[in-house]
Amino acid sequence: MSTPVIRPRRLRTSPAMRRLVAETRIHPAQLILPLFVREDISEPAPIGAMPGVVQHTLDSLKGAVQDAAASGIGGVMLFGIPATRDAIGSGATDADGILNRATRVAAAEAGDALVVQTDLCLDEFTDHGHCGVLDARGRVDNDATLLRYRDMALAQADAGSQLLGLSGMMDGQVAAVREALDGHGLIDTAILAYAAKYSSAFYGPFREAVDSQLRGDRRTYQQDPANRIEGGREAALDEAEGADVLMVKPAMSYLDVLSDVAATAQVPVWAYQVSGEYAMIEAAAANGWIDRERAIRESVTGTLRAGAGAVLTYWALELSAWEKNA
Ligand code: PBG
Repeated sequence: MSTPVIRPRRLRTSPAMRRLVAETRIHPAQLILPLFVREDISEPAPIGAMPGVVQHTLDSLKGAVQDAAASGIGGVMLFGIPATRDAIGSGATDADGILNRATRVAAAEAGDALVVQTDLCLDEFTDHGHCGVLDARGRVDNDATLLRYRDMALAQADAGSQLLGLSGMMDGQVAAVREALDGHGLIDTAILAYAAKYSSAFYGPFREAVDSQLRGDRRTYQQDPANRIEGGREAALDEAEGADVLMVKPAMSYLDVLSDVAATAQVPVWAYQVSGEYAMIEAAAANGWIDRERAIRESVTGTLRAGAGAVLTYWALELSAWEKNA
């Protein structure tokens, strides 16, 4: 009986060999930590569906940004939770709104150590919880929302955000925000386009994290999970409109879309490992059903392997600590 000549297992024989031939590595510089900052609290508040993640006060945000900078991760993405909301999301464009105040604090703490990024979307600030303003019939009004996004971009850039995370999925949002920024001389403020963002059940825990007021869903603006070609179309449009970075979101259930976009884009492509992906692994690990560290590493490695240049993940700090010891 002939024995195999070609034996792929040779490259798996020892930890040192496996380490040497690994095609994908997690580097702290390619991890971005989302941070929540809430207006009406005096102590950090835990988020039930996201064990280990908190809503920060402006004060506790300082330490969180210092820790992020010390860990060597690439950036932080800020989300604000205001005390009051209205139909147009006024808090989003108010220089004293919670997100803009948090951005000033984070930018001061971060210095040049990491990139301070901000979520540019109205959903945390509107009393109806939608990502845009509504028309007379209660539908999300695309073009009226673009006017709000333009003002929000100026407020965020003024507060010190270096990278604006356009997550609202309005048509033309990248071009509109780019024009507004350039019109005010803010030529160096970069745009991260949540280019292919799907209407996902995996955002569930995030709704608690930002105290979302949404009833109903976002299916008239976020994408149908059934559609792969459309993900490529959205990404190509955003790149053509001037996006500096493209993002695919969520990560785990959309690795095909991520791979497609990464194969054709001429700009960096990132992925967002969202709240539900975090919650699932934490819950399974807490029950002893899964090896927590291995599952976390595998989930982020898979996202990088599929083509992400960086990953937004709630485990950014823990991962960077593990990789330093690896
Ligand atoms: C919109 C936004 C959402 C998330 C990031 N930006 C919620 C949504 O689209 O419903 C979800 C992130 C997560 O689930 O971790 N501002």
